[in-house]
Amino acid sequence: MNTIINNAQSTPVKTEYNFSKHALKIEQLNVYHEQSHILKNVNLSIPSKGITVFLGPSGCGKTTLLKSLNRLTDLHAGMRVTGSIRLGEQDILATKNADLARLRQKMGLLSQRPFPLPMSIFDNIAFGLRIQGVYNKTEIAGKVEYHLKQVALWDEVKDRLKSPASRLSIGQQQRLCLARGLAVNPEMILADEPTSALDPISSRKIEEQFEELKKDYSIILVTHMLRQAKRLADYVVFMYFGEVIEQGPADEVFTHPKTRTLQEYLLVGH
Ligand SMILES: Nc1ncnc2c1ncn2[C@@H]1O[C@H](COP(=O)(O)OP(=O)(O)OP(=O)(O)O)[C@@H](O)[C@H]1O
Ligand SMILES: [Mg+2]
Repeated sequence: MNTIINNAQSTPVKTEYNFSKHALKIEQLNVYHEQSHILKNVNLSIPSKGITVFLGPSGCGKTTLLKSLNRLTDLHAGMRVTGSIRLGEQDILATKNADLARLRQKMGLLSQRPFPLPMSIFDNIAFGLRIQGVYNKTEIAGKVEYHLKQVALWDEVKDRLKSPASRLSIGQQQRLCLARGLAVNPEMILADEPTSALDPISSRKIEEQFEELKKDYSIILVTHMLRQAKRLADYVVFMYFGEVIEQGPADEVFTHPKTRTLQEYLLVGH
């Protein structure tokens, strides 16, 4: 067990995590695109609860690593992935095409810019529920309300649930996308710089959601904002030129970086 110290002022946070319990195990992962070797021998264990931050300079492979976890790498022609990624009993790289939709529901992805479905606020959440076989109208309405409350969006939208999601602000759209992902029972939440297109208040709201959700989910957050990483990370994976250079509990990694590369990265404060 580790007591986490995870912000710039080194204030101890009460939550305790057992970093030896893993949601995801990655072994000898390599990703190639034609002649270029994008991810190199990545070995990584993602804790089963809390926020794991993928940190590193632009182009080091953070997004590619995230995409390989839910097989979005399949969508890039010429990309080849080898090695092993295990989610519990499931071998992700061996998952059949027919099961990819469920895999991607288990590993909900929040991207840099929100992509609400071109339908109403209500239907953005109801859509996934119907796909999962929930048809009872009262049950759907109850779940829509529950998940909108879960992301603190309910009060802002309860009087206009039938209006198009595209009319929401970008920050509200991002919270709607988070609610949509939560409605289909994910096992993990993947987030690729989810606040980079948002204003500071909307960013803070997303961060607050993550701090709440990390009690129940394993969250992977890609960021190159060091301050955000220090605020949120329980576990840190530092990447550089396609390799994982360091990984460990946030307090250890931030206060005692082992490599010169990370020491310099932390000093420059990207
Ligand atoms: N579809 C693709 N085809 C070819 N090369 C790619 C593709 N996607 C990523 N790459 C290359 O892989 C490397 C890692 O890219 P990636 O987007 O994973 O980095 P990143 O760490 O997420 O960067 P950033 O912080 O700028 O988002 C880069 O050199 C990039 O050019
Ligand atoms: Mg990226």
